[in-house]
Amino acid sequence: MSEIYYVNGEFLSSKESVVPSEERGHQFGDGVYEVVRVYGGRPFLLNWHLERLDRSCKAIGVENPLSHEEWTELISEAVRRSGEEEAQVYWQVTRGIAPREHLFPQAQPSVTMTVKPLLLKASAKSSEKSLLCIPDERWANTWIKTINLLPNVIAKETAHRFGAVEALFVKSGDFTEGSSSNAWFVRGTDIYTAPANRYILPGITRRFVLQLAQEIGYTVYEQSVALDDLHSMDEVFMTSTTLEVQSIHSVVADRNKMSLLYNLPDIPAQTLLSTPEDPAEIWRSSRNNVAARLQDAFTDAVNKFRNYEEPVQ
Ligand SMILES: Cc1ncc(COP(=O)(O)O)c(C=O)c1O
Repeated sequence: MSEIYYVNGEFLSSKESVVPSEERGHQFGDGVYEVVRVYGGRPFLLNWHLERLDRSCKAIGVENPLSHEEWTELISEAVRRSGEEEAQVYWQVTRGIAPREHLFPQAQPSVTMTVKPLLLKASAKSSEKSLLCIPDERWANTWIKTINLLPNVIAKETAHRFGAVEALFVKSGDFTEGSSSNAWFVRGTDIYTAPANRYILPGITRRFVLQLAQEIGYTVYEQSVALDDLHSMDEVFMTSTTLEVQSIHSVVADRNKMSLLYNLPDIPAQTLLSTPEDPAEIWRSSRNNVAARLQDAFTDAVNKFRNYEEPVQ
């Protein structure tokens, strides 16, 4: 396996693949991105990723430089060069290279891409996987998959310093999503996940798992779950392209900062990166049947995809 780096029309080695100082992605975070999972040498659910990329580009006024056919060809070529059957492809489209100035430049969008071996699922046993509740202070357009991920990065780091596998954002008392995953809650055979409105990224895995859950016969409500209703849930799980379906054992929160999960005060915090001082476990799973069933169904679908048994979209 070799890691593959692609920059604006050329496949380069990792040493050659440098970002120009006046790249707008580098200077302003002025761009959007996608991550697709490769199973058996082929990108999974690629069309859905490409449709989302179209929406992200349109939202920020960057012309998507490639058609779906051209993206499919480029991604397939990058995967082929990597020689890897199990991998993840990351690519971003930015507003291009131009002298630093807030106004949009007359520049060609930049495309960069990497193919890397799959990062394995977090090594914690499922009995140890917890989420840390974090106030959702992100901007009101988190449906766009922009490369501006500072709040997500800080949230994930805070969660990890605390020993949790992921941050669980809470906005005005309601769960939105994780820092790099979508959140799901199960009560009986009813499944809840936040609606795909402006406040969450509409995950491709979310879309696929929603379909699988309905095929199995679960009722799925695209409704926000309130922090105050968490106690009534039997299961919590997270989904993403690299995680697939990950069941969660417990949810914790900083006792001193619980009020921020309901209302953000006018005064800013001194530091965003804090280690919770007084952690409280606010929920513990009673089972993981539904998450396990969905992960099995996901694995079955992927195995069919690997064997070209059926088109998965
Ligand atoms: C904020 C956020 N929500 C949800 C997801 C899951 O999306 P997907 O299933 O498309 O990987 C991601 C993935 O990176 C994310 O960054």
